[in-house]
Amino acid sequence: MKPVIDIIDQQICQAIKTVSGEDSPAMVTVATDAKFGDYQANAAMVLAKKLKSNPRKIAEQIVEKLNISDICEKPEIAGPGFINLRLKPEYISAALLQINSDPERLGIDKEQQSKTVVVDFSGPNIAKEMHVGHLRSTIIGDCICRMLEFAGHNVIRQNHIGDWGTQFGMLVAYLNLEFRTQNSELRIQNSIHISDLEQFYKNAKAKCDADESFEKLSRQQVVKLHDGNSETLNIWKHIVDESRKNYQPIYNRLGVNLHKENERGESFYKDMLPGVVGDLKKAGLAKESDGAICIFPEGFKTKEGQPLPFIIQKSDGAYLYATTDLAALRFRINQLHANKIIYVTDARQQLHFQMLFAVAKQAGWVNENIELVHVTFGSVLGDDGRPFKTRSGENVKLQELLDEAVSRAGKIVEQKNPALDKEQKRQIANAVGIGAVKYADFSNNRTSDYVFSFDRMLAMDGNTAVYMQYAYARVKSIHRKAEEKNIDVDGEIKRAAKLNFTTAEELDLAKHIVRYGEAVEAATRDYRPNFLTQYLYELAQKFSGFYNACPVLDADAASRPTRLLLCELTAQTIKHGLNELLGIDVVEQM
Ligand code: ARG
Repeated sequence: MKPVIDIIDQQICQAIKTVSGEDSPAMVTVATDAKFGDYQANAAMVLAKKLKSNPRKIAEQIVEKLNISDICEKPEIAGPGFINLRLKPEYISAALLQINSDPERLGIDKEQQSKTVVVDFSGPNIAKEMHVGHLRSTIIGDCICRMLEFAGHNVIRQNHIGDWGTQFGMLVAYLNLEFRTQNSELRIQNSIHISDLEQFYKNAKAKCDADESFEKLSRQQVVKLHDGNSETLNIWKHIVDESRKNYQPIYNRLGVNLHKENERGESFYKDMLPGVVGDLKKAGLAKESDGAICIFPEGFKTKEGQPLPFIIQKSDGAYLYATTDLAALRFRINQLHANKIIYVTDARQQLHFQMLFAVAKQAGWVNENIELVHVTFGSVLGDDGRPFKTRSGENVKLQELLDEAVSRAGKIVEQKNPALDKEQKRQIANAVGIGAVKYADFSNNRTSDYVFSFDRMLAMDGNTAVYMQYAYARVKSIHRKAEEKNIDVDGEIKRAAKLNFTTAEELDLAKHIVRYGEAVEAATRDYRPNFLTQYLYELAQKFSGFYNACPVLDADAASRPTRLLLCELTAQTIKHGLNELLGIDVVEQM
């Protein structure tokens, strides 16, 4: 089923063509005020400007040729030439029944052309615990994957972990120094944990700065690592495995679909780096400048107006983040056959990706059918409006943040519903706590910064996860009560060939349910989860309005099937949005 807004758009374009022979946009939006209808088209103003004619007249001509009577009531023309459209109850009825017959997709079509889309997200740096700075890439990236998968694309999730580089030389040298036993065995298996590693890394760095001989040892270890020295590699591998023990459980808790097989860290590309530099040199793009190998992509300038270098090899021969990203990009196109690559990182990496894309295009690695996208996001801030840190100024560890959210949620559950059994309480606290953190992030426009607040994200009313989860549980409880009263919900719904809307609230809720596809499409197109949360919030509000105004179980026989169906579809839509697309758990009872 095509979203109504697209059908209307198409029909108006058609009418414009018939009237004027022009290809002019229909400019359809959701009406700002329900008074005027459900949709509004500004097509006439645009076309009138083009034709230098009267917009109201044009609107009349468009309406006359408009073939839309199966969906909308007779269009109305308002003001200078707005075309106002109102959906017909018969259409809404048919649409809801169709949605109901398709529980998997809720009537939402797949994209006609399935693409192979690589989504590069999360990408924590190894040997450090994941902190709040990794939250956004991890969950927004996962949500983008879910939306694209639902649209029918072949999504390849890639976790580009930072597992290669000079810091590992330092760490290995440090471990060698501290953990070598007398018979020179390295006792690190089982004895080194991620929380230690972070401290070791700090110690190693301090030692490096203070002690020249240690610095030399570190550099030797980098060389050994690059040369594939087996002992050095083993220690390195242990560090990576240890780090995974930190981030994998976090992914699992967050409901983020990332596993070891999605991992292609920086180290994966190490052998391709000389080829990248060599090929770019051969192509005449990479040149030596001040000892380093650089590319000067067109259109990038320093503050002083000089060409801006994209450095791919330092004078000591070392490769950089940029070199690895070039190798990864080429690998994704040539080996993974990506039609689209989406990178999800914070906005500070914007210039890096702009230059990366420019270089790859100039090198001819990206043909015009391949799309490169950088999806950016703002920072998570503390109450003071500065990047969110602990009181002592450390990064907030993600693990601890999630623990805190779940523990606070547990207290709320205890207060609201002390009679539940322990296991139920635990499950609800988990769903509510983790859901709160994710939903609060999603519900902000991703390009803005937002202030992290447990109190706000766990509020029972407002645009929060728990409000949505509660709405879901409430609808489900209606179903349970119906069963207690021996009402055959599924049977009644099945027998309803046509719905019967008798109140404004029913119609309002029904229209909103029909619009789910529009919201999903918009969120997917712009990679913006907040379009979904906004939709869901309005859905829950409209459900509330409906439920306050309309008895369901005690409704008369003419109304009950319609109302039962509205409840069913509200529940299914919330569940689909929260669970399938945002990866947030719902609970049947709260
Ligand atoms: N490890 C990087 C960081 O922490 C993120 C990686 C993003 N992906 C990429 N292909 N560069 O900033």
